[in-house]
Amino acid sequence: MIDVNRRLFLAGAAGTAVAAQAQAAGLATPAAATAAPVPVNPLVRNRADAQVFRHTDGWYYLTGSVPEYDRLVLRRSRTIAGLATAQERVLWRHEKTGPMSGFLWAPEIHLFQGKWVMYFAAGPSGGGEDVFRIRTYAIVCDGPDPMTGNWKVLGKFESPFDGFNLDSTIFEHRGVSYFCWAEREPGIDTNSNLYLAPLKTPLTLGAKAVRLTVPTLDWEIRGFKVAEAPAVLARNGRLFMTYSASATDDRYSLGMLTARDDANIMDAKSWVKSPQPVFVSSEVTSVYGPGHNSFTVDEQGRDVLVYHGRDYKAIKGDPLFDPNRHTRVQRIYYREDGTPDFGIPVGNGPVPDRFSPVGAADSFLMHEGDRVTVGKGPIPASQFRAVPSAGGAVMLVPVDAPDKCLIAGTDGTVRLAPIAKDRQFAMRSGFLRQSVGKDEVRFALAGRPGQYLLYRGGKILVGVQDRAFPPSTNFKVS
Ligand code: AHR
Repeated sequence: MIDVNRRLFLAGAAGTAVAAQAQAAGLATPAAATAAPVPVNPLVRNRADAQVFRHTDGWYYLTGSVPEYDRLVLRRSRTIAGLATAQERVLWRHEKTGPMSGFLWAPEIHLFQGKWVMYFAAGPSGGGEDVFRIRTYAIVCDGPDPMTGNWKVLGKFESPFDGFNLDSTIFEHRGVSYFCWAEREPGIDTNSNLYLAPLKTPLTLGAKAVRLTVPTLDWEIRGFKVAEAPAVLARNGRLFMTYSASATDDRYSLGMLTARDDANIMDAKSWVKSPQPVFVSSEVTSVYGPGHNSFTVDEQGRDVLVYHGRDYKAIKGDPLFDPNRHTRVQRIYYREDGTPDFGIPVGNGPVPDRFSPVGAADSFLMHEGDRVTVGKGPIPASQFRAVPSAGGAVMLVPVDAPDKCLIAGTDGTVRLAPIAKDRQFAMRSGFLRQSVGKDEVRFALAGRPGQYLLYRGGKILVGVQDRAFPPSTNFKVS
């Protein structure tokens, strides 16, 4: 597998030929990029358990576990991509002694009852197994701006069992703030289960908690019996609660509970568990142990899955102390029944897009093996990364075939081919992505002025633009 950077360098050498050809043909260079820069995975290195959300103040906030587990951090940016380089502030460091002097895990920041509160799990630093005497605490900000205010300890969450508890989150549903967290319950032989209850004050529950799920399925109990890191996405008349299961190595994965939004969500029977994990490691894209997710929307209002993952499988020592669970993001797509299809972790590089020919609105540019077609197919076969090949052109690389890209034949056919390092290849695979309207683009083949990627007669071709309506050159981006 060619390293993405080497591939870019090699294509770049050939890309200048493409640029010259395009320039000579007077092909417009790509229209100005959309308002927001495209995030590149990994988005933020060494930030596990990331919470990213867009607040009403227009800022994206990010917090997460640091490898040292010794401090609570926060950063913000006007764009998701900007989080990668945003300045990070330390809000609070673990104490010298006592119950909050050891690990600090998985912070989340919430505006609750008008105050910024950051929840986190903490344990003592006594060494041995005592360091896993983990409980949930909170710090609170004294002002309206979490990046400039002063933070101090608010106290400890009074959980039902006062057991190992962590990974709390808050979500609003029908005017009620709910607290959801992971905890070990006496008498149940698991590391953690998920619990839910209305939140009365920042650290006290407004009703008896309900146990939502216990890890029992084979993919939930690999290494450790774990259900942790709940996150809630309310869409299409349902609440989708994802959670993380198994040990934090490559076996870590996302499960999902689904409840109708008009159900009694305090009744465990309202929550139906997906029998299979909804997001798992991918050998194809080299992302392992994807989990501990959160949800946000991008600058265009499109749903985004935020999660951590490593870009290697084998871990030396305890995975908990491997620092390379990086924050990653990708867009969420939905099946016809309204349920989210998370696909696979898309791998390192720019976040991919999907392209629907304007003449086939409910289908997508995709590949089946090396055949390039249009259909509803699996999400990964229709997610294409625009890999820069210099000269303003891009190669269209499917996330599930990262060593291949679309290439034009001399007869106008289009297929997938292994990325080659020569000039001829660049001339046949370099496309100039051009904006042609809100969320619509076309791809001019830089090496053949006047020729475009086309959807015509149910096929994907390269050819001259015709008088068809809707234009066979235009693709809607999602
Ligand atoms: O990353 C530290 C802890 O390990 C998190 O709280 C938990 O979700 C993960 O398993």
